Amino acid sequence: MSATNPQPVQHLADYRPWPFGLTETRLDLTLAPRDTIVRAALDLAPRDASDPQDLVLDGGAGLRLQALRIDGQAPDPVHVTRTDEQLIIAAAALPHAPFTLETEVAIDPADNTAFEGLYLSGGMFCTQCEAEGFRHITFYPDRPDVMTTFRVTLRSALPVRLSNGNPVGDADGVAEWHDPWPKPAYLFALVAGDLVAVSDRFTTRSGRDVALNVWVRPGDQDRAGFAMESLIKSMRWDEDVYGREYDLDVFNIVAVDDFNMGAMENKGLNIFNSKLVLASPETATDTDYERIEAVIAHEYFHNWTGNRITCRDWFQLCLKEGLTVFRDQQFTSDMRSAAVKRIEDVQTLRARQFREDQGPLAHPPRPDRYEEINNFYTATVYEKGAEVIGMLKNLVGDDGYARALDLYFTRHDGDAATIEDWLTVFQDATGRDLTQFKRWYTDAGTPTLEMTEDWQDGTLTLTFAQSTPPTPGQPDKPARVIPIAVGLIGPNGDEVTPTRVLEMTEARQSFTFDGLGARPVVSVLRGFSAPVMLKRPLDDATRAFLLAHDTDPFARWEAGRELALSALTQGDAAQKAYIAAIGTLAADEGADPAFRALCLTLPGEEEIATRIAAGGATPDPDAIHATRSDLARRIALTHQDLLAGLYDAMTVPGAYSPDAQSAARRSLRIAALGLLSRIDGGDRAAVLFGIASNMTERMAALAVLVRLGRATSALQILSDEFGDNRLVMDKWFSVQVMAAPPEQAVAIARDLAAHRDFDWQNPNRFRALLGGLAANHAGFHAADGSGYDFTADWLIRMDAANPQIAARMSTAFEIWPRYDAPRRAHARNALERIATLAGLSRNTREMVSRMIA
Ligand code: ARG
Ligand code: ZN
Repeated sequence: MSATNPQPVQHLADYRPWPFGLTETRLDLTLAPRDTIVRAALDLAPRDASDPQDLVLDGGAGLRLQALRIDGQAPDPVHVTRTDEQLIIAAAALPHAPFTLETEVAIDPADNTAFEGLYLSGGMFCTQCEAEGFRHITFYPDRPDVMTTFRVTLRSALPVRLSNGNPVGDADGVAEWHDPWPKPAYLFALVAGDLVAVSDRFTTRSGRDVALNVWVRPGDQDRAGFAMESLIKSMRWDEDVYGREYDLDVFNIVAVDDFNMGAMENKGLNIFNSKLVLASPETATDTDYERIEAVIAHEYFHNWTGNRITCRDWFQLCLKEGLTVFRDQQFTSDMRSAAVKRIEDVQTLRARQFREDQGPLAHPPRPDRYEEINNFYTATVYEKGAEVIGMLKNLVGDDGYARALDLYFTRHDGDAATIEDWLTVFQDATGRDLTQFKRWYTDAGTPTLEMTEDWQDGTLTLTFAQSTPPTPGQPDKPARVIPIAVGLIGPNGDEVTPTRVLEMTEARQSFTFDGLGARPVVSVLRGFSAPVMLKRPLDDATRAFLLAHDTDPFARWEAGRELALSALTQGDAAQKAYIAAIGTLAADEGADPAFRALCLTLPGEEEIATRIAAGGATPDPDAIHATRSDLARRIALTHQDLLAGLYDAMTVPGAYSPDAQSAARRSLRIAALGLLSRIDGGDRAAVLFGIASNMTERMAALAVLVRLGRATSALQILSDEFGDNRLVMDKWFSVQVMAAPPEQAVAIARDLAAHRDFDWQNPNRFRALLGGLAANHAGFHAADGSGYDFTADWLIRMDAANPQIAARMSTAFEIWPRYDAPRRAHARNALERIATLAGLSRNTREMVSRMIA
């Protein structure tokens, strides 16, 4: 395949600065569904007049070039070349001094089903330019290290016309915007539509008065208030914690229904998937509210970590994404429960990033090659990128981190920076050599950390051994720096040694604690101080002891998790130990209800499979499903009264509020409901669905009813009530597949795909159905291969319309090699069917070929 159709591979090592300077970009757009006219004027200057270079601009066949001028004159056509992806003006046609390049192109937003560049969503014009969408709007040096100020003129009869920066004027269908902060093209945005705003104001601590708007479709205003509150909290937090202020007179957020990703940090004009803006108690769950708060913060925080300081090239993506995820995680910890947030983040990391590391798509946080950059907006770049920063902070301490960040902002403001720049800042601010630490950025794979203990005469010796399995292109992995947070707990349950961070730098290394009276129990990897898989020989009694006594909430939860995994994979004794221990914890009224809920929730089937595979065995999806269901039933039978008591006691009285305390109580109530449904036939869920007025409880009840095959009327009620609400209907689609009994999942997905509301070109709707199936572990991995075939059919169809979405959804297959031979044969067939398709996009081709390499 690749021999006959070679793909251009981009290499980090090939980076060269752009040979021109760009001092201003002026854009003038006349918006129309077809034949939008884009006039661009670029003030350019050769960097080295003595070494003339061709001017190479990105922009493909979708741009209909209508005019091209250099300082007002059309160049001789012999000097102008167009390729599939570029416009090249020969050096011979260019002045040796500053000049202005003008282009005029026509484009058709109405035909843009890939939602990259300028497109239409529900009658509204909007853009998505990261990573390389701007080249679908006009010819341009579409690379993040080319930064300049923008002046934008928007012509449209639609009432609201927005772009980046500050408004200059808006009258008679013409709006002008000026962005004084130099930025790369990927941060460009425009919106024009029939929109209404929820508005507020914010005064920065140095006194700048900022107008804030959340723009939504008429009728949606009453669901935009929480997004606005979240924005104001984010702005204040970034001032308080990082000393970062906002730098324009307006900050606009726009919600759109068709959006490939979550949201986008365009300068002064963030564009969001509407599911991350719109929320009301009747339509959004507690999880939705928490996500909205976090993503509003994430995009806002990009204003400094991403926009004021951007990336030199796309290999450096984790420079802005890892740091901004780390910052939004800190923000959520401050707004809500830090302990619960840490546990949730580790769960996400394990479910998505460890899984990615375990398969053929494994790559380092900073990759050094790619074919399609949109394929690298991954859990590794985002979530592991954030973990790496957490480790760095752990190693240099809070003060060192604060000094390094101050230096980063002062030294690199206005720069397009690299991971090397970032690490140098830490070295300069703290005096620490980070040469070895850098491997976390350049090496793929999840290290395994084995710990053994030795106890002699009051001295405890902990010996650690690290190793990282090979990943594509990286057979051997040298030892990394691993910060290991350890505390010691005495036999009576009191902490005898508070948390200490051990710095492991060798493949094998010992650390001693002396002067100890009695042999303590070791609490290790507290706070999940490094993204590794810990292996330690530990009996269930000691795990139960840690679950009862550990002072570190993460380690405490982890002990329960280990106990659960042991209960799922070992015999009856392990199950008894586990069931007894979580009963004690669930009954502990002094503990945070959200924490108790997390402890009562069994590991997911995917997580169990990842664990089994990491141990070198082959996971059996059906067996995992059955064992997990049995264990849930046993818990319910043993703790029936306790759970029923919690279910009643955790009712939240009064009007719904999305705050952390109320959400915590609901989460415990829902955990109890889920377990009780294993023995009450779903009766409680049926009642709850009928009486609950908030979507959190209704969705929880509905998931139970779907699992038990008694959801027909509840589903009908929900679609009668919310048939015209796209976000609720997304949930309606996904829950039916995700929670379905595995043996029915594919058939249900097939039926739903034929439903008249299955608007497959809408990314949220597509993800609801196909992502719902992928999340049904035993359903997607059905032994007859039907889950794979169904998914492959839809990937093929989607690829022709929207390559980014198809490529992203193909990760449903990313761990196919870990299953049994018959499943592997089905999966390989499905992938090969996609790979051999004529006209497959670069996005999906790269993904599939990496997966079957
Ligand atoms: N930078 C956006 C974020 O905050 C993600 C946009 C990615 N979009 C894409 N098409 N790759 O995380
Ligand atoms: Zn981001």
